[in-house]
Amino acid sequence: MINVGIVGVTGFAGEELLDILLRHPEVRISYLSAKIDKPTPISQIFPRLKGKIDLVCKKPEIKEIVNQCDLVFLALPHTVSMEFVPALLRAKKRVIDLSADYRLKDTKVYAQFYKVNHKDKLHLNEAVYGLPEIYRHRIKQARLIANPGCYPTVIILSLAPLVALEVIDPASIIIDAKSGVSGAGRRLAESFLFTEINEDFKAYKVGVHQHTPEIEQELSRLGGKKIKVTFVPHLLPLTRGILATIYARKDKKLKNKSQNLINLYRRFYKKEPFIRIRQEDISPRLRDVVGTNFCDISIKDNPDTVIVIATIDNLLKGASGQAVQNFNIMYGFREDTALV
Ligand SMILES: NC(=O)c1ccc[n+]([C@@H]2O[C@H](COP(=O)([O-])OP(=O)(O)OC[C@H]3O[C@@H](n4cnc5c(N)ncnc54)[C@H](OP(=O)(O)O)[C@@H]3O)[C@@H](O)[C@H]2O)c1
Repeated sequence: MINVGIVGVTGFAGEELLDILLRHPEVRISYLSAKIDKPTPISQIFPRLKGKIDLVCKKPEIKEIVNQCDLVFLALPHTVSMEFVPALLRAKKRVIDLSADYRLKDTKVYAQFYKVNHKDKLHLNEAVYGLPEIYRHRIKQARLIANPGCYPTVIILSLAPLVALEVIDPASIIIDAKSGVSGAGRRLAESFLFTEINEDFKAYKVGVHQHTPEIEQELSRLGGKKIKVTFVPHLLPLTRGILATIYARKDKKLKNKSQNLINLYRRFYKKEPFIRIRQEDISPRLRDVVGTNFCDISIKDNPDTVIVIATIDNLLKGASGQAVQNFNIMYGFREDTALV
């Protein structure tokens, strides 16, 4: 049994992690923590858990985490995670961080988008970007996983075959993505009130969303050259789910070739347990992925352009499901353990 802690368990991602790990046959949940003022049984915070787990949730204490855990999931806001990671790694613990703190390799870009200077450059290079479909071999050995953001997960998975196999003009990528409100976390903010969101639909952070550099970093690595994207996120009046529609121009060389793009995707993701490639005439829908760790992808192959449409649950494949997928890889468990 692996002793596992969750720091940030009262948030959306932390609560989801708790649910998944409670049904994991190889996990003993040994430590729960959040920012709360006084220690409180988790079954009091989430009454639906009464009879399932009676651990007390308390303010995080490094000493206690180190004594009680082999691996820690940090489901904390960015800038908070990097306060914990150095001490945990020094104590030889493994860490899966769901925040953005260890995703961007360039600290200048981190400071530009997250408005603070990075405090743990030492471990930034060591962190493995936790997208199993691309980095599985590195995840296995990792001490520190930078679990990807929700938009980056669905967008990178949508574009990886096209970029890696040089099928499209990388300068032509336009991403139009829509997310449910849980993507913003459980914190209180006027702009996320029911009355502000219900029966409305809008774009936000146009051209300045903090996930843009993460998407560009990973696509550039895959394509072996600098790639910039146009990314416009939208807020859906739904609790969870992301749908991304992505447009790109075909590479001139490809236009004359008869290459079946759907088969190309099927080959690229042949062994992937959580990627489902749709038939050309069936567009993915949120209903099919919400509550699952799947990413559904469809490809529309036009004479000059490609349109990729993909969906995930932002709290599962976009956060906690993917984090447990990484955990399973790190410990050699079946990758879908507790996820299906
Ligand atoms: N929501 C998503 O769809 C999603 C997707 C991918 C990645 N992520 C990332 O995952 C992380 C968690 O997201 P979330 O949506 O679950 O956020 P959230 O709902 O706001 O939860 C944040 C959690 O962190 C705790 N916390 C905050 N500051 C703390 C501190 N100083 N010490 C200890 N605990 C502290 C909070 O405790 P209290 O409740 O006591 O304040 C809460 O448990 C974020 O970095 C986010 O960017 C989220």
